[in-house]
Amino acid sequence: MFITFEGIEGSGKTTQIKLLISLLLAKGYECIATREPGATKIGEKIRAILLDSSHTTMLPLTELLLYEADRAQHVHEVIKPALAANKVVVSDRFFDATTVYQGYARGFDLELIQQIHQVMLDGLKPDLTLILDLPVEMGLERAWERINNRSSSLPEDRFEKEALAFHEKVRRGYLTLAEREPKRFRVIDASKDPQAIHKETAEIVLSFQGRKL
Ligand code: TMP
Repeated sequence: MFITFEGIEGSGKTTQIKLLISLLLAKGYECIATREPGATKIGEKIRAILLDSSHTTMLPLTELLLYEADRAQHVHEVIKPALAANKVVVSDRFFDATTVYQGYARGFDLELIQQIHQVMLDGLKPDLTLILDLPVEMGLERAWERINNRSSSLPEDRFEKEALAFHEKVRRGYLTLAEREPKRFRVIDASKDPQAIHKETAEIVLSFQGRKL
């Protein structure tokens, strides 16, 4: 089973993925947590380029292609082998993030993005996508707290520095995708406390048990 988590900055995906993985392991499922960008050796380097806010001259096209390059490595090296070994794969972001960030928010042609995904993913799609939804002001506050407390010297704040309107477009983009594909998406209120979110997430994932896990 392939599960993805999506949401605006500071939506709490990392915390929720850790909690979900612990639960799945405790229940005896073989599973892996992965992320985009940066799940592979090459991807880590691409991530550093993408998120460095000193890269002020990065073209939107460069950004789009770097995310797709990261994804190509990720699918080949991590996701497909894990699914072939019958593991549950839980990814912190996947192709919906490109549709939303580069498409809805940056303004890239959505059809072009869809075509790229058709070619490169060859039908691979998450079984379940959980959107952690919350007001952008609340998410950005959390995201900046995390960035300011990071011990690493590498700045990873290129997106957090975008205007509020950009993040609103991201939030609305995710909600639009969820409306269009209600079978795959679940929207979770991420303004609640982490344990309450985990409870809801766990119920949704475990209800897939008989069908996919
Ligand atoms: P993260 O903060 O969840 O690790 O994600 C890194 C940033 O990359 C986040 O601001 C969203 C952005 N992003 C895109 O713009 N397009 C994509 O395809 C992906 C995977 C992430």
